[in-house]
Amino acid sequence: MSLLIIGATGTLGRQVVRKALDEGFSVTCLVRNFRRAAFLKEWGAVLIYGDLKKPETIPPVLKGITAIIDASTARPYDPYNASVVDLYGKIYLIQAAEAARIQRFIFFSILNANKYSEIPLMNLKLQVEKRLRKSTIPYTIFNLCGFYQGIISQYSLPILDQQSIWVSSESSQISYIDTQDIAKFTVRSLSVPDLENKQYSLVGLKAWNSFDIIGLCEKLSGQRAKISTIPLVILQLTKDFTKLFEWTKNISERLAFTEILSKGENFYDDMTDICTISKINPNEITTLEDYLQEYFTRVMKKLKTLNYDLDKSKQDINF
Ligand SMILES: NC(=O)c1ccc[n+]([C@@H]2O[C@H](COP(=O)([O-])OP(=O)(O)OC[C@H]3O[C@@H](n4cnc5c(N)ncnc54)[C@H](OP(=O)(O)O)[C@@H]3O)[C@@H](O)[C@H]2O)c1
Repeated sequence: MSLLIIGATGTLGRQVVRKALDEGFSVTCLVRNFRRAAFLKEWGAVLIYGDLKKPETIPPVLKGITAIIDASTARPYDPYNASVVDLYGKIYLIQAAEAARIQRFIFFSILNANKYSEIPLMNLKLQVEKRLRKSTIPYTIFNLCGFYQGIISQYSLPILDQQSIWVSSESSQISYIDTQDIAKFTVRSLSVPDLENKQYSLVGLKAWNSFDIIGLCEKLSGQRAKISTIPLVILQLTKDFTKLFEWTKNISERLAFTEILSKGENFYDDMTDICTISKINPNEITTLEDYLQEYFTRVMKKLKTLNYDLDKSKQDINF
């Protein structure tokens, strides 16, 4: 099976590429910047130029491809509205995939998108889901919520750097998951016919709120967190303000998302069925405790080596 992976330079996409290559798939990555994607070539993937906001670049990259895994999403800093990529680019991609008779299309949506269709990013996902269901291509849709990798920048690094962590007083319970686990289910799904034309959630086995995560990071790092609470009303006002300008619309859309995550909602789903169908033991899913333990051990070891090198160079200078 020959795979085309879109969004391969992203947090999730790169893990999907790694897993697919490890499993022996032939992998082509659609990329818009060869320099940024050089590491994927070193891993053994083929790079091909394409850009979801330039429809003419799509059909040529589908030649010889049997399955598409689409892990792309607009970058918040791109100077255009997210719908250019997350709606129009994807609708065009699906049309081109139908014409190229692609045998499987894997799409990543957002958990609970149907409950919050008023949130622009959720709404774009719902429209793409709908188009995929209507398409002639066998598809699999996975609903995701937060990634463990995001927890590092949001909580672990500020704690290590003694910087403030901003949390809302009512934070949601979110079942974060390791992107390596999502990659494992995604690549496995390619060989599971029962997952054709189906939609499943891929989430961690436990839901966490901000305060639980901060407590865990404090325990594992041995450092106290500086917590600053942000009132929901400030989040709402900032969102309304950023909506006023074309160039801050993406920020506003992401703030709308943050607002939902701050309201004390529950982002969790049962993984029993998808684990059974995929023949993946739930015990194989990495826990947040193990993930962060591994992270902090690695960081502390590096810090110790750095301090040792610093002490040694000081001694050498004094000598
Ligand atoms: N992060 C989360 O917590 C989360 C939660 C729920 C669902 N999801 C979904 O999971 C998927 C992966 O998310 P992620 O956080 O891993 O994404 P990410 O790290 O932000 O990466 C986005 C990827 O999309 C590519 N991309 C952006 N604009 C493009 C364009 N015009 N043409 C082609 N490629 C383009 C980027 O390429 P460049 O390197 O060139 O910019 C990058 O590879 C997305 O569908 C996202 O909506 C994510």
